[in-house]
Amino acid sequence: MRILLHRADGITDPWVADFAACLPQAQIIVWQEGVPIAPCDYAVLWSPPVALLPELQHVKAIFLTGAGADGILKYSEALPPVPVIRLGDAGMAIQMAEYVSHAVLRYYRRLDEYDQQARRGIWKQLPQHDKADFTVGVLGTGVLGKRVLDALASFGFPLRGWSRTAKQIEGVECFAGSAQLDDFLRGTRVLVCLLPLTPETTNLLDRSRLSLLPQGAYLINVARGALVAEPDLVTLIRAGHIAGATLDVFRNEPLPAPHPFWDEPKITITPHISALTLRRESIEQISAKLLAFERGEPIADVVDRQRGY
Ligand code: NAP
Ligand code: GLV
Repeated sequence: MRILLHRADGITDPWVADFAACLPQAQIIVWQEGVPIAPCDYAVLWSPPVALLPELQHVKAIFLTGAGADGILKYSEALPPVPVIRLGDAGMAIQMAEYVSHAVLRYYRRLDEYDQQARRGIWKQLPQHDKADFTVGVLGTGVLGKRVLDALASFGFPLRGWSRTAKQIEGVECFAGSAQLDDFLRGTRVLVCLLPLTPETTNLLDRSRLSLLPQGAYLINVARGALVAEPDLVTLIRAGHIAGATLDVFRNEPLPAPHPFWDEPKITITPHISALTLRRESIEQISAKLLAFERGEPIADVVDRQRGY
């Protein structure tokens, strides 16, 4: 069995070694631009360069080393009609819960404001926010959104979630579909974005939708940058309608300089690290799914190309 491997960071040796341990029967071929290779049975990659696409014409399935499939589905017609299988959690959900809980608590406990005070030598207790007025709304209640909601529930925040199909999640007020989005946003003080990037979700959070959030709301985007209309976010932050944003993902990554986000003190920037791909967990999951696929068994996390996730 021949597996084509592509890593955008160029760090491939540990992946080859861990695959050898998990799937000793497989030969791992690291893709390098311009180096011809014999046809492979499977591909393991995430957001490959266009030059790799001809190699995919022979594979039986494509395994992603990430949760989001937008980086491969963007090639649409150029992809062979084989299953694309994304990661399901593989250690990312707990990282997402850590990151989002930290950001929500930082806003709720006013830790940014205390930090600014401390830098100016000010010892002053600020009024505590009312937790009943600090509803956290999570866009996307899939694998990651659900785990984030579970983590936030332990702090007692009022919770709501929005998904494409109707859901029932204990302790969470659930909304579904575009008809219920406006109501969801109107009652959300901290908006957490955990949607996949699809044609329906691109630019979903534009000026009109972000304006539905109550005055003083916060945004935490850990999904994809293109879900948010970036200039609209800057406008609403400067107008004081949005009190702060924590952004881990951007329309163009790395976030270019200059960019208004870099200069906006109410925006916290991290370089797409909220949930990193964990190599060993991912290889174990991909290997198990690949073997199940070889045996003709059903496998989880097959991307639905019509839905786009
Ligand atoms: P998932 O399990 O597929 O969940 C996606 C959720 O989004 C589902 O609840 C789905 O609704 C909902 N959704 C999709 N399209 C929608 C629409 N048009 N309207 C309303 N809801 C919609 O995905 P996941 O594993 O939780 O991952 C979510 C995203 O996180 C990924 O796609 C990726 O972009 C991002 N991510 C970011 C990082 C990072 O480090 N920043 C790491 C990993 C993943 P249904 O439940 O009704 O299907
Ligand atoms: C990271 O952004 C992922 O989709 O896994």
